[in-house]
Amino acid sequence: MTVLHEQIEVSRPVHEVFTYIADFTTTREWDSTATSAEKLTPGPVAEGTRFAVTCAAPIGSIKLVYEVTRLEPDSGITLKGESRFFTIEDRITFTPTGAGTRIDYRAEFFFPPVLERMASIFEGGLQRMGRQSMAGMREALEDDYPPPEESVASRLADRMLLPGLARFTRLGYLQGRRNWHPISAYLGDKHIVITGASAGLGYAAAMELARRGASLTLVMRNPDKAEQVVQAIATETGNKRLHVELADLSLLTEVDDLVRRLQHRGDAIDVLINNAGALFNPRGETPEGIEQSLALLLLSPHRLTEGLKPLLDKAGQPRVINVVSGGMYSQKLDLPALLGETEERYSGSVAYARAKRALMVVTEHWAQAWADDGVVVNAMHPGWADTPGVQSALPEFRSLTRRVLRTPEQGADTIVWLAAATEAGKLSGRLFLDRRPHTTHMLKSTRESGEERAALLDYLATIRAGGVYDNTRSCKALAAGR
Ligand SMILES: NC(=O)c1ccc[n+]([C@@H]2O[C@H](COP(=O)([O-])OP(=O)(O)OC[C@H]3O[C@@H](n4cnc5c(N)ncnc54)[C@H](OP(=O)(O)O)[C@@H]3O)[C@@H](O)[C@H]2O)c1
Repeated sequence: MTVLHEQIEVSRPVHEVFTYIADFTTTREWDSTATSAEKLTPGPVAEGTRFAVTCAAPIGSIKLVYEVTRLEPDSGITLKGESRFFTIEDRITFTPTGAGTRIDYRAEFFFPPVLERMASIFEGGLQRMGRQSMAGMREALEDDYPPPEESVASRLADRMLLPGLARFTRLGYLQGRRNWHPISAYLGDKHIVITGASAGLGYAAAMELARRGASLTLVMRNPDKAEQVVQAIATETGNKRLHVELADLSLLTEVDDLVRRLQHRGDAIDVLINNAGALFNPRGETPEGIEQSLALLLLSPHRLTEGLKPLLDKAGQPRVINVVSGGMYSQKLDLPALLGETEERYSGSVAYARAKRALMVVTEHWAQAWADDGVVVNAMHPGWADTPGVQSALPEFRSLTRRVLRTPEQGADTIVWLAAATEAGKLSGRLFLDRRPHTTHMLKSTRESGEERAALLDYLATIRAGGVYDNTRSCKALAAGR
């Protein structure tokens, strides 16, 4: 038997530390040898929960299947692991100290007799790996990472367009994740509102945020889907703090009703995720007479966020996350075109990209306007992810790019990071892809003028107040911007 025994102390409450470590999928964030980790059994972590962890070893990779054999909340957890070469028992004990938590980690390796002698040769290496893993655990739990910067490589790639676009694929995600930090922030005391949680990125983000223990308000429009989603998330994660709000977000009256209901509930909102979206072909108007892309992708998140600001203000460090799209890189802010006041033929992709460009401008505006209130506002774009939305709206694009599309979880990763990571709260008014800030303009020609920004904000304020927008103002802004 080979024994590794290490102790560390961290300045985090025992409940937070226990919550993070007991979900053994976090080993991939702190164990220096773990290359992947997944939970094999649904439900909350409990006795009987199993995890598969793949570790890099000098002789190749080793897959271990762990089972939780003892779980005492906030106190201790024991896991038994089996691999082709050895079995292991990990006993982790958590003790509150005046300043935080002491973690005592004891791992016992049992080798079959033929390997026992070789194991003694490897013992030094194993001890070193154990120390490195505990150092990784300490760093993860200290959670003191600087805000990410736009990298030189991504700035260059964004400028050269094609390499920039290549980052939208799964390869960009795989490359980006090489330098990521652990997310150990405790979400058990956070309330997150997410729109469009019934499918695609919204569903993937909601699942992950529920897994991390947040209380969620899931905004969906279809009651049957909503029931299935709540059932699926609760079964998978064991999180029962799921509240559904039904609203067709393309209708401003329904957005207003939603705001009223949430205000009536009165719960502070720690994170608002404006994710619901769709690409509309052919052109159509909502029953309220507004072009659909404009209604759903711009007016709706604008109205919802402004309406929920008092509840964001009630939270300690509120965040707003606007899901935009790389498509916006192709469009300049153009209010008359956004409002359908130009002669050009409708294109769903262009209308979509224009609305997302406008939402980016609104993101920057809110970040500045609400900085003194402590509200952090960022936008993200998910790259290209294989979601029901892409499958139905862009079937040709999907069949061309299918091999390199991201999974919904990969596309949603930056939403989760912006909602959860401590360092993500240190930047505001930025556009993120794969947890890093990126330029909002790949082309000089898409930069808007101050007058154009002002005209957009003027228009949005007028519509929100229920007024009729005088479109000669948008035309003046257009003239000034050209
Ligand atoms: N997937 C990508 O590659 C990609 C790329 C760039 C940006 N995005 C953006 O990412 C976000 C999520 O997209 P996705 O790909 O996950 O799309 P998706 O699979 O179609 O999911 C969209 C979600 O929005 C909801 N939704 C649509 N219209 C709604 C309405 N009128 N009222 C309430 N909810 C509504 C949908 O509800 P139902 O289930 O009821 O339809 C669904 O939950 C969107 O903002 C999209 O523009 C996606």
